[in-house]
Amino acid sequence: MKINFLRNIFQDYVDEFREVIRPVVLNKRVQAMRDFEHHGDICCFAHCLRVAKHSYSICRALGLDSQSAARGAMLHDFFLYDRYEKGVRPVAHLLRHPLAALDEASVTFDLNKTEMNIIKAHMWPLSLSRPKYAESIIVSFVDKYIAFKEYSLLQAQALRRLAVSAGRAVFHRKSTAS
Ligand SMILES: [Fe+2]
Ligand SMILES: [Fe+2]
Repeated sequence: MKINFLRNIFQDYVDEFREVIRPVVLNKRVQAMRDFEHHGDICCFAHCLRVAKHSYSICRALGLDSQSAARGAMLHDFFLYDRYEKGVRPVAHLLRHPLAALDEASVTFDLNKTEMNIIKAHMWPLSLSRPKYAESIIVSFVDKYIAFKEYSLLQAQALRRLAVSAGRAVFHRKSTAS
């Protein structure tokens, strides 16, 4: 997926981002995020990694705490459950998953206050917790931007599939009529 607006900023910081995020992404529990779909067929791990790398580069460019932004963003959806399998309603999931992610992240890593607030408040303004730091606000906005791009991609794929099936149906009708 091409995210042009953010991709250009990221190019300057790609190597140092990898250094910062390596200990987090190599953790077995974090790797388990690959098993959970988040936005359609996009897994939690891929979504969080995207949010982490763009949050890192924006915070780095602005002279903010880019390390905490990257780590908090990588763990912001670290909730490790399948909401469909558990039968969690969408609104309940929306409200609860930041707390579940914070619980999971707190037992897996030593988190600082910024990282904790990034995770807890990332759904703001749709959550009760408010962002207390500039890094939390940036991660929250980047998360929404990336989620929008991921859903747009899914819509485009669905429309393409629909167009292909419609084309096949028309072709089939024409060939059986002749
Ligand atoms: Fe989330
Ligand atoms: Fe997210």
